[in-house]
Amino acid sequence: KPIKIRVKNIKEIQIGEDLIEPWYFSPYPEEFNDAAVVYICEFCLSYYISELQFRRHKKKCNLFHPPGNQIYKDEIENLAMFEVNGERQPTYCQSLCLLSKLFLDHKLLAYDTLPFLFYILCYYNEVGYCIIGYFSKEKYNMENNLACILTLPQHQRKGYGRFLIAFSYTISKMQGKVGTPEKPLSDLGLLSYQQYWMEAITEVLLKANEEISVDEIAYQTGIDQKDVQYTLHLIGICVYLGQPCIRISNGLIEMVKGSKAKKRCTIKNDYFDKQWVP
Ligand code: COA
Ligand code: NA
Repeated sequence: KPIKIRVKNIKEIQIGEDLIEPWYFSPYPEEFNDAAVVYICEFCLSYYISELQFRRHKKKCNLFHPPGNQIYKDEIENLAMFEVNGERQPTYCQSLCLLSKLFLDHKLLAYDTLPFLFYILCYYNEVGYCIIGYFSKEKYNMENNLACILTLPQHQRKGYGRFLIAFSYTISKMQGKVGTPEKPLSDLGLLSYQQYWMEAITEVLLKANEEISVDEIAYQTGIDQKDVQYTLHLIGICVYLGQPCIRISNGLIEMVKGSKAKKRCTIKNDYFDKQWVP
């Protein structure tokens, strides 16, 4: 098969107040390639190259949050999570995939959004709920608890990626399961996951009184056994298959205290919608 190298096609996007330069190719309609700016509605994610048409749209668009159920709300941080079903909201979800492809190189995005749920993180104000990032999850995949993750560039390095990852594991734990993200991960995806795994696992190790098994760590974190083992290895603890327990050394405790995680916007169980069942 010939290798097709697709050149980055969109010069700039405007979403809400932000002007952003895309990183990669995304299959917007061909006529978008010549546009100076692509205007994207920050609520419904529809896209325009004519500023006039975009302004007309903004006047009549009556969507002020993602088209799904609000399942989580943090009124202190003004953050909310919405669950959007790819089957019920194909237009919104396809627009979301097009937008996120601008920042994802390695994945052939599934434009068939039917088998996915989308979890959209928003900050809210008087006007509405504006997207910060999201992750998708395949409805019937037993292993993967996350397919794709994105924090929009203007919001990166503020802990939202960590929040989204933590959210995906919280859902797994609510379902009494462990999970792992779909591979391959991008470089930034891997960095974020490694950081999250280290923080989550060392937290469990510190709380444990003495010995703890890989299974128990997996159960408490929602992180699957393979990823637990991989992370323990990164931390410098070798566990061999069949060896049931991990003894926590004083050295590790010191190391964890030394690299104490900056805890921004952690997930609180009280903030979940009580009616919602994952
Ligand atoms: N350089 C170095 N480390 C980075 C990093 C970067 N650019 N981005 C994230 N990390 C690591 C850091 O350890 C960071 O913790 P710290 O800020 O406390 O040091 C940790 O990951 C979490 O960062 P966070 O701010 O929570 O993540 P984010 O909101 O920036 O989102 C991604 C992370 C991966 C979602 C984001 O980079 C992204 O959307 N990338 C493009 C899409 C993509 O590649 N998705 C993954 C596909 S599998
Ligand atoms: Na960060």
